[in-house]
Amino acid sequence: MEIKPTGGTLGARIEGIDLGKPLTDQDFRTILRALGAHGVLCFPDQTLGVDAFAAFGGRFGELEINVANRFHEPGHPEMMILSNIKRDGQPIGAGDAGQGWHTDMSYSHDIALANILHAQEVPQRDGKPLGDTQFLNMHAAYEDLPADLKTRLAGRTATHDFAKFWDMMRARPGNTRPPLTDEQRAKKPPVKQPIFRTHPITGRYVLYCNPGYAMRIDGMEEGESADLLDFLFRHQSQEKFLHAHHWTRGDVLMWDNIGTTHNAVADYREDEPRYMRRVQVMATLDYGKLAA
Ligand code: SIN
Repeated sequence: MEIKPTGGTLGARIEGIDLGKPLTDQDFRTILRALGAHGVLCFPDQTLGVDAFAAFGGRFGELEINVANRFHEPGHPEMMILSNIKRDGQPIGAGDAGQGWHTDMSYSHDIALANILHAQEVPQRDGKPLGDTQFLNMHAAYEDLPADLKTRLAGRTATHDFAKFWDMMRARPGNTRPPLTDEQRAKKPPVKQPIFRTHPITGRYVLYCNPGYAMRIDGMEEGESADLLDFLFRHQSQEKFLHAHHWTRGDVLMWDNIGTTHNAVADYREDEPRYMRRVQVMATLDYGKLAA
């Protein structure tokens, strides 16, 4: 296995490994360390099927079954289909997943370590890939905060709510997401998350507060909370923290869901097909120990 960092704020390409085969303990540890160090890992030219993809993801922690659970691969409720493709006039996947800056599962009491996508179809125009996934580096965003703000927000929490992103998507013209049911709401009630949290692999602080789900800073007057959230969201979105992944069919992309935020760029049309398989790995293991 060869790890080639992009040289930018995030990202590395990992070659010389077939993810269709069971990982050795050594490979597992190398990938975990690389995830902490680079945040976004691209494994190009992977041909693994759904069972092997689930097995690869499952090696890193329990796989989440999404609360909306509308589109998944047959026999794999934990493997969502993200796609704009329609068959017989019906969508085969979630067409608008992740289109806005967010961190998956920050709305959940138990948070996620990673998302992993396997590119089945990548939209193209004039020979160039479309539908990038963009990332922001939350280790760097934390480190770059003014010292007085680090002190002011230390130990503070923010409330995150699954419904924030869902309703934001629903408000878009032509969006077809149904309203959340009472049952779905009950499964994912708003939760408090530390604004700064220790990353389980690196042991360093990250800024864990994203515009997709964070609603307010707890125990703070509404106006002050809104101003501070606005500052944190603008701070983290600076160009110097940005990495964009340009997809190629066959890429498996694994990203750190604690140390990054991400955004799916919807710059392709209905006749430019995109099809991704996705699993979400919950942070259910002792990663500090496993990466040591
Ligand atoms: C996601 O937010 O997990 C989806 C990202 C993408 O489809 O690019």
